[in-house]
Amino acid sequence: MRQDAEARAASRRLLATSERELQRIVLDMHDGPVQDIFAALSQLQVLERSPDADAATQQRVRQAIGLLERALGEIRNFIGAFRPPGFERRPLGEIIEGLAVQHETLTEQVVELTVAPDLGDCALPTKIAIYRILQEALANGHRHSGATRQRVGVARDGAAILLAVSDDGRGFEPKRVLAREVDVGVEGGHFGLRGIQDRVEMLGGRFTIDSAPGRGTELAVTLPAE
Ligand SMILES: Nc1ncnc2c1ncn2[C@@H]1O[C@H](COP(=O)(O)OP(=O)(O)O)[C@@H](O)[C@H]1O
Ligand SMILES: [Mg+2]
Repeated sequence: MRQDAEARAASRRLLATSERELQRIVLDMHDGPVQDIFAALSQLQVLERSPDADAATQQRVRQAIGLLERALGEIRNFIGAFRPPGFERRPLGEIIEGLAVQHETLTEQVVELTVAPDLGDCALPTKIAIYRILQEALANGHRHSGATRQRVGVARDGAAILLAVSDDGRGFEPKRVLAREVDVGVEGGHFGLRGIQDRVEMLGGRFTIDSAPGRGTELAVTLPAE
């Protein structure tokens, strides 16, 4: 039992560390390449307006500006997707609301969200896990279910946080999907459900997925709040 608790504590530290590492990469990218591209763009804009530049040069400069603007847009999208959402500061309910709104904006799929009024806050590793699990569940509901809306519920039951994500889409056979080892991993992709399973296991929680072809899907996760 003691060993179990120690292993769990080590996993928690690992999760929090990799998340911090990701935030550092995002910040480095923002402060480094993004600032340099900005500087290069403004130089080119000066050049574009220069009376010394002939029409052919101006044309090439405009093309270069277009390319840099596109690169900047892509980096911005990437940073947006990974932006540190201030996990430490923001309470769980607010983080979930932000994610639901982001999903609706990006996909035009409706998210019916119910956050229990007594949800309160939770420990950082649980918060990060809930965030990543919800992100994956919503993405799956969008990519695979064919439904136009999803329901998300988050509540507290004593010392546990409960998350449920469901859709009335086409459903699937979870046993077959989770058993197909060959389809999971570097070669086959499909890390999503396996990743959810691993995260929940590491934190000592519970994960169930209830689905059948034609009946929709309900994913439920229980994690210790502290
Ligand atoms: N909400 C859902 N509705 C229908 N099928 C789903 C849903 N979620 C998962 N699936 C099925 O389970 C498979 C595995 O999902 P996942 O592990 O997240 O991998 P991936 O999303 O990369 O395919 C999906 O390819 C899909 O067939
Ligand atoms: Mg997936």
